[in-house]
Amino acid sequence: MLHIFIEQRLKQVIAELLPDANLETVLVRPCPDAKFGDYQSNALMALAKERKLNPRQLATQVIGKLDVKPWCDSVEIAGAGFLNFRISAVALARTIAEAAAGKHLFIQPAEKPRVAVVDFSSPNVAKPMHVGHIRSTILGDSLARALRLLGHRVITDNHIGDWGTQFGKLLLGWKQDLDRAALEKDPIGEMERMYKKINAACDADAALYETAKQELAKLQAGDPENLAIWRQMIALSQVQFDTIYQRLGVHFDQTLGESFYNGQLKDVVRQFVEAGLARPDEGAIRIFFDDVPELKEHPAVIQKADGAATYTTTDLATLAYRLETWQPDEIIYVTDGRQQLHFKEIFTSFKRWKPAAKVKLAHVWFGSILGDDGKPFKTRSGDTVKLADLLDEAEERAFKTVSDKNPGLSEAERKEIARIVGIGAVKYADLLPNRQSDYVFSWDKMLAFNGNTAPYLLYAYTRTRGIFRKVTAAEIASMAQLPDDFVLRAPEEIALAKHLLNFGLVVQAVADDCRPNYLCNYLYDLAGHFARFYENCPVLKEVEGTERTVRLALCDLAGRVLQQGLRVLGIETTEHM
Ligand code: ARG
Repeated sequence: MLHIFIEQRLKQVIAELLPDANLETVLVRPCPDAKFGDYQSNALMALAKERKLNPRQLATQVIGKLDVKPWCDSVEIAGAGFLNFRISAVALARTIAEAAAGKHLFIQPAEKPRVAVVDFSSPNVAKPMHVGHIRSTILGDSLARALRLLGHRVITDNHIGDWGTQFGKLLLGWKQDLDRAALEKDPIGEMERMYKKINAACDADAALYETAKQELAKLQAGDPENLAIWRQMIALSQVQFDTIYQRLGVHFDQTLGESFYNGQLKDVVRQFVEAGLARPDEGAIRIFFDDVPELKEHPAVIQKADGAATYTTTDLATLAYRLETWQPDEIIYVTDGRQQLHFKEIFTSFKRWKPAAKVKLAHVWFGSILGDDGKPFKTRSGDTVKLADLLDEAEERAFKTVSDKNPGLSEAERKEIARIVGIGAVKYADLLPNRQSDYVFSWDKMLAFNGNTAPYLLYAYTRTRGIFRKVTAAEIASMAQLPDDFVLRAPEEIALAKHLLNFGLVVQAVADDCRPNYLCNYLYDLAGHFARFYENCPVLKEVEGTERTVRLALCDLAGRVLQQGLRVLGIETTEHM
């Protein structure tokens, strides 16, 4: 976190020398190679170029005025005008001591807290949640957690698909074909069965499809019977969703499904038409994007020929509602990559509709989960994998591993550890790859105790905790009162401490770029630094006095950062494994 202070100082100096400089471009970040320093800024090169100055000369001027002695031993100009900072032993020790005293955990709350709406998970009513929804749920939850940890205000909103043309068929199926006993036992399974059957029947029989459309029209007109069935379908689905969310530890502040915006759709269409932003075309009403190359061929329908609104209309109404209700600085939508075009249309239309709105809109999209064969992940029988089954299997497999490793623990304990490890492994495997690439689902890989996996990190955490079962309460208390003149000497101590310092920076990068994989890699490196430290620097034996307390504090802080970091990924920790 020292980089923040250095950065502030650097900004002041640049503001003095170049009053018109855009200070947002002035960043201090970890040095890509520790050989050159701990932190680096490349801001001066661009600033010099804009002004046709010699970057190294500018850098010399900056250094002449830059006082970073409270934190740095040296500042050096390198290459074409980089500034490299090496932090001092005193500043490092002081920051560690502050953290050990509980003043911070290497995170500074955001200077300007933002309001962010995170729209994620958003499954569809009457259908089982499948692996496609898992990525949105896990990724969205993690982003919300990162933003919150940094002090931003977050509103999580589950935009469930509880409206739309599928309900015509669902209503018809419900009336013609519902098996009440099956519904009682497995509501989603029964609704799915019924939907598949009626869907196929409607494809084969145009008259039947007409009847389904009439059911939909009746629902939309407020027919009491259809409304009652529809509500029941939502309620039954919500029970299923909630069970999964509870298992995943995911919470939503709002669940305003698509139907919530029904009353506003006509008005949205009217506003677009009146403002000349949409026009009738072949019976429908469309928004055209002739000036946007990638959307040119994709006008967006906001009213179909039969008068019905669309997914697009609903998303526009949703945006307006969120803006008015929460005045967010940003709205983050987490869905798979196939919706990229949809969100481009939404964002472009919105800008035309509300040009004064300053909200930042982000479509955070992700790739697919693949099976061993490189094709979309399916069950052996070729069905889509249901999320509930996947989580069951994760826990079962983890139970076997945990039982092999630790047969001495009670069954209840092993079950609880297996729950944490199993669910954690699924989440971690999902968050670790660059979200935009597809990844191959592999139980063996995600449950391995070696490598960049949840079990490895969870195990590292238990090692940090195990140490504290061997020390006295007095010693634990003394960590909060480290003297301010200790110096870290062993290279492994220094490396671990410096890595700890960057925790907040990484969480901030996760929130800014919507990429939790940064944090996965940071935690993996942290576990590595901790292992090297623990191997080379005795903590419990052959060491006493301040040196021992400092090492204990480093163990404690490594554990706390691991735990907090895993928490941002939505992963619980366990004391034993
Ligand atoms: N229900 C949609 C689906 O399952 C996702 C909705 C995403 N959010 C949104 N505001 N469009 O594909």
